[in-house]
Amino acid sequence: MIRPGLFLLFTAFAALAQTPRPGVNYDEAKVGNDPLPDLKATTAEEWTKSRRGEILALFEQHVYGKTPANVGAPKFEVTATKPDALGGLATRKFVHVSLPERPAWQGMEVMIYIPNGVKAPPCFVGLSFGGNHAVSVEKDVPLSTRWMRPNKEKHIVDNKATEATRGTESSRWPLEMILKAGFAVATAYYGDIEPDHADGWKSGLRAAVSKDGANTVWSEWGAIGAWAWGLSRIADYLQTDAQIDGKHLAVIGHSRLGKTSLWAGAQDERFGVVISNNSGEGGAALMRRDFGETTAIITKAFPHWFTPKYASYAGNAAACPIDMHMLIALAAPRPIYIASAAEDHWADPKGEFLSGFHAGPVYALFGKKGVVVEEQPAIDTPVGNFIGYHNRTGKHDVTDYDWTQYLTFARRHWGR
Ligand code: GCU
Repeated sequence: MIRPGLFLLFTAFAALAQTPRPGVNYDEAKVGNDPLPDLKATTAEEWTKSRRGEILALFEQHVYGKTPANVGAPKFEVTATKPDALGGLATRKFVHVSLPERPAWQGMEVMIYIPNGVKAPPCFVGLSFGGNHAVSVEKDVPLSTRWMRPNKEKHIVDNKATEATRGTESSRWPLEMILKAGFAVATAYYGDIEPDHADGWKSGLRAAVSKDGANTVWSEWGAIGAWAWGLSRIADYLQTDAQIDGKHLAVIGHSRLGKTSLWAGAQDERFGVVISNNSGEGGAALMRRDFGETTAIITKAFPHWFTPKYASYAGNAAACPIDMHMLIALAAPRPIYIASAAEDHWADPKGEFLSGFHAGPVYALFGKKGVVVEEQPAIDTPVGNFIGYHNRTGKHDVTDYDWTQYLTFARRHWGR
């Protein structure tokens, strides 16, 4: 039984998430006009040999921190296989990923659905907010026992998942649709890698792999970096599984996990397609545009996501040597898709489009076309060649409409 006071409080918060917040700019005339940092690349060779690495290092230094390299080899254990999952549509596997040399990390449970009857399909790789049991509607998926962010609507009680949380993310993961389109899906709970709160690093991956004591963790890398690391470990496993085409992996994420997907795709070129769903500030949205969430707001609310340096650009984005068109460009020449939602003003849909638009010159060096259009397209009008973009009707979310575009995009580029 939910107490009325608490319920009202919760409803007020939910409403706040959708309505313009005071002091936040939603006026296009006031977004500012600081010029974007120059991509400074004149040939594809120069981009690949030097500029790409320089820009990646700038993102490490100023935004997400540096992913540690020497944490020891990950270990993969297939803990269960069900050949007739989802009524026979797919084979479902669970894989426990751990770091034997860093036993303090509890590891992550990867859930994989592989469409039956498709030989070595390409695979979408993404983290979830609610755990595997929330992604799938199958009742035999183990309930996550890890820490979860408070969410009454999604039936999280005392920071733990309950039976009622089963399937609560299934609309964001339309498994049947993806599997029937001939793609596999590999997913894990982001909190397996690090719980999403300011002290989460202590019980997560970052403390477990810290070189010289937990004190340096914050200055080294942020939670987005840790989550992105987890995506790369899923990719490691998928390379070893003959039932998957490890050469065709698409990394996908929504919101803070869309920021994560972009950072994973920037660092790990095994992700042949990169997808950002409503990633907003700290993701696809240009930081120099003062519209919706800003660097000041995000680094105050979620300091643990980033390297501390990023907060120094609060109110002073122009001083930052990067902007997010450069993050998009780090995917080049691989296909990348940026999706916005028309009512998701907080994430600045136009700023998300513009980062794609301004990454175009790097794709052009490779003889590839980016978003193709000059202006943000009308709502529900997907555009783009190697940089896909759409602005869907509706709110901050992942819907079948979004997935339809991603499946079409991946098929087009992979000839499936
Ligand atoms: C908050 C945050 C966003 C983030 C979002 C989410 O709204 O301000 O930056 O993308 O949460 O991850 O759901």
